Amino acid sequence: MTGQVNDPVKEIESAREAFEQEFERFARFTSQADGGLSSLKDAESQLRSLADLRVRHAGKKSAIAAGKKLIGRVPAEQRASFGQLVQTTEAQITESISAAELALKTFIETARTARESIDVTIPGRRPRAGHLHPITLMRQRIDDIFVSLGYAVEDDREIETDFYNFDALNIPEGHPARDPQDTFYTTQGHALRSQTSTVQIHAMQRRGAPVRMIAPGRVFRRDTPDPTHNPMFYQVEGLCVDRGITMAHLKGTLAEFVHRLFGPETRTRFRPSYFPFTEPSAEVDYSCFNCGGDGCRICKWSGWIELGGSGMVHPNVLRAANVDPEEFTGFAFGLGIDRTCARIYELDDIRLLFENDVRFLEQFR
Ligand code: FA5
Repeated sequence: MTGQVNDPVKEIESAREAFEQEFERFARFTSQADGGLSSLKDAESQLRSLADLRVRHAGKKSAIAAGKKLIGRVPAEQRASFGQLVQTTEAQITESISAAELALKTFIETARTARESIDVTIPGRRPRAGHLHPITLMRQRIDDIFVSLGYAVEDDREIETDFYNFDALNIPEGHPARDPQDTFYTTQGHALRSQTSTVQIHAMQRRGAPVRMIAPGRVFRRDTPDPTHNPMFYQVEGLCVDRGITMAHLKGTLAEFVHRLFGPETRTRFRPSYFPFTEPSAEVDYSCFNCGGDGCRICKWSGWIELGGSGMVHPNVLRAANVDPEEFTGFAFGLGIDRTCARIYELDDIRLLFENDVRFLEQFR
């Protein structure tokens, strides 16, 4: 026995005491059901601390490891009992640590499984699905009808030169429609189209004749907003140019359109009118889908509802688009989508369609 070692038995006992003191906070993991652990993160951090504890109290540089080295150096008569003491102490330390480790690992595994598993009994989170605007719904219904009648759907620009907005549509200089009080102009002098009739020219220039197309889109007028007017609204233009097209084709087409939109019993009525780009021209009405023509709130007690303007394409318009009026004739019409939409959904005011109040729009799901 060398002088450096005080009392090897005491050394081991104090090593055990030091371990027990430090291990105290881990003992609950084996004694309590959930070890008093608050979370998976807590358990993971405890497991790391426990690994440190194992290094300090059972590792190569621990007091127990030092004690083992002393076994051969204690007096022979004490060696057996000292060896025994070192062994049991080491066994107690490692067993305690292993038991706490096992408890922690079990907790961690259970918590991870719970976190990763899907509880199919929890009600799902319903995504807030959007829906189409009533104008779009109306537009789609109109598109579907004309597409099934063999019409192409054209989409064109909203800002126009005077040529497309006026000249080509046979609206001469000085015509009231050119008045800045009716039309919005950009600072460069372009017009925001005031009607979809501009697309007639683009379509004929692009496709030539014969042509059958509709052009739904936005138009702009300096109209003061009221229940039936907006400065921005939607129209759908229709154009059919071919050899031998007559007013009868126009009437038959629009009659078929209202049958499909409002029902087969719906009647049409053509009233003489004037548009510079059609000759002859007519306003088109249809019998009220609600009362069938007897008169009700929806048709303002007249039995009829206005659909839009129409007529036979003026020869000057055909010429402006390089179509020979000697060979081809055609009809055109322009319907107001907003007002039709308002009638169908029984709205008293078309301004509701642009106010973007979700409480209003939600009703059209
Ligand atoms: C025209 O715009 C012609 N381009 C229609 C046409 C096309 C005639 C092809 C001949 C050949 P009008 O100005 O009447 O016509 O307008 C057509 C429709 O647009 C009206 O029936 C109405 O439903 C709608 N409308 C007109 N002004 C407004 C407005 N301020 N707000 C909402 N809808 C409007």
